[in-house]
Amino acid sequence: MERLQGRVALVTGASAGIGAALCSELCRQGMRVVGCARNAQKIREIAEEETKHGSPGSIYTIKCDLTQESDILSMFDEIRRTFGRLDICINNAGLSHDASLLDGATSEWKNMIDVNVLALCICTREAVKLMKEAKVDDGQKLHKSIEQRLMGKGMSGHRIPEMTSFMYVGTKFMVRALTEGLRRELKADGSRIRVASISPGLVETEFEYRCFKNDPETAKSIYTTIKCLEPEDIVQSVLYILAAPPRVEVHDILLRPLEQKV
Ligand SMILES: NC(=O)c1ccc[n+]([C@@H]2O[C@H](COP(=O)([O-])OP(=O)(O)OC[C@H]3O[C@@H](n4cnc5c(N)ncnc54)[C@H](OP(=O)(O)O)[C@@H]3O)[C@@H](O)[C@H]2O)c1
Repeated sequence: MERLQGRVALVTGASAGIGAALCSELCRQGMRVVGCARNAQKIREIAEEETKHGSPGSIYTIKCDLTQESDILSMFDEIRRTFGRLDICINNAGLSHDASLLDGATSEWKNMIDVNVLALCICTREAVKLMKEAKVDDGQKLHKSIEQRLMGKGMSGHRIPEMTSFMYVGTKFMVRALTEGLRRELKADGSRIRVASISPGLVETEFEYRCFKNDPETAKSIYTTIKCLEPEDIVQSVLYILAAPPRVEVHDILLRPLEQKV
């Protein structure tokens, strides 16, 4: 995809799972990827791997704890100083805790809201600011640009599973409302920035191991009950969205493993 070459794309949650797979593929597509997470070393290893494979793009690592607004703002300053622009922002980072509504820890609820909702909103606000700034500098080119923003959601933004962390589901329902709200605000603003969302069913990543951090057997059993999606399946959806011509705004892609019932 020639249109993507040299574009600057931020991927949050780049150290594992879907975000890590995205970093690699976007780098292979020739993009200048900015990967952020707390575990910066993991992202550096992915970058080294891509360099070794001769991928045409690059991966720039930023250590960022998305629960800290100051970290997020510093990250955007660094992107501004280093690249002077941002074309694509992929709000991928997210997590669940095994924290029920009846006896879950408030700190775990807060952590889910901080990362899944608030960080996504702060990154979005800062990304749009940076995209607008770049437009002022290079109006003609950016008029045709492929500015894109993606919101990570999950099927949990569409239906309530029988047994799960309902606080997690609540955050993803909120992301669904925020995605549509953002789309409307951008339209009202006369912006050509496009907003898209991807809603996968079960994908085999570190997600459940982090959720059930004291019970790896439960996490493992979740991934073995059905044949799960793989991170690469989500990467293909992202590539489809990014390849869409400027007249097309993909709103949401829902994809389930074939064997997933709800
Ligand atoms: N796996 C699934 O079945 C599934 C299904 C639907 C939707 N999703 C969504 O897809 C997205 C990615 O999930 P995944 O399955 O790839 O999860 P994962 O393998 O657990 O990776 C989660 C990523 O989020 C980052 N992260 C978590 N807390 C963070 C924080 N405070 N600051 C910065 N980064 C943080 C982690 O990095 P560090 O720990 O290094 O900070 C890691 O890179 C999430 O939004 C999730 O809700 C997943």
